[in-house]
Amino acid sequence: QAPIQVVVAIDGPSGSGKSTVSKEIARRLNLGYLDTGAMYRAVTWWAMHEGTDFAEPSAVVEAARNAPVEISTDPDHQFVRVGGTDVTDAIRTPEVTSQVSSVATVPAAREVLVQRQRGIIADSGRRIVAEGRDITTVVAPDAEARILLVASEQARMNRRGAQLGGSQDAEALRQQVVGRDAKDSTVVNFSTAADGVVTLDNSELTLEQSVTAVMDLVLRAVPDL
Ligand code: DC
Repeated sequence: QAPIQVVVAIDGPSGSGKSTVSKEIARRLNLGYLDTGAMYRAVTWWAMHEGTDFAEPSAVVEAARNAPVEISTDPDHQFVRVGGTDVTDAIRTPEVTSQVSSVATVPAAREVLVQRQRGIIADSGRRIVAEGRDITTVVAPDAEARILLVASEQARMNRRGAQLGGSQDAEALRQQVVGRDAKDSTVVNFSTAADGVVTLDNSELTLEQSVTAVMDLVLRAVPDL
């Protein structure tokens, strides 16, 4: 009997805990894991490396097309490479983080990445947890389970602050969390759930409770799992 197909699509703003939760769901259900944000970051890293003019949308699209991005879908062994260079850590620097919206806000660059993401989902045999901003709506609107993970601005800032070791001042944090979401949301709507997408607000939940809540939603959507 062929393994059951289950695509879990999870969207949400930064600091909603979607990466940690998605990875854990993938482990527990023995599914692949796709961090689409890492793909936007990898293209950004490549474009910076190539000296791309970010003010020129056609140059950004070209970078998205040409960046030789390779991304792991193993939740226990995540890595990103660009043309053989391991950029797993390099794509998380403040420099890349502050530039990534210049890629994410170019519709034709998004189209390139969306196609690749659909290819990765197909290659997984449709057994994958994919997370980002437009997975429930654009990349995989046909996913078996579609979830929008949200959290209050305060909760998101607290989490991001803790991730960064608590050394950031409040205004810099707000800029990173709220400012970036504001830029990104000019092209993708990830603050309200599309039809058929379940919203889960985890402001008051621990990580473990968020995982349990998402797991319940997935099992309800795919009872045969
Ligand atoms: O989730 P993240 O912070 O690693 O995402 C990096 C950037 O990519 C962020 O600015 C939003 C953007 N992004 C997007 O526009 N669409 C996605 N599916 C995933 C990420």
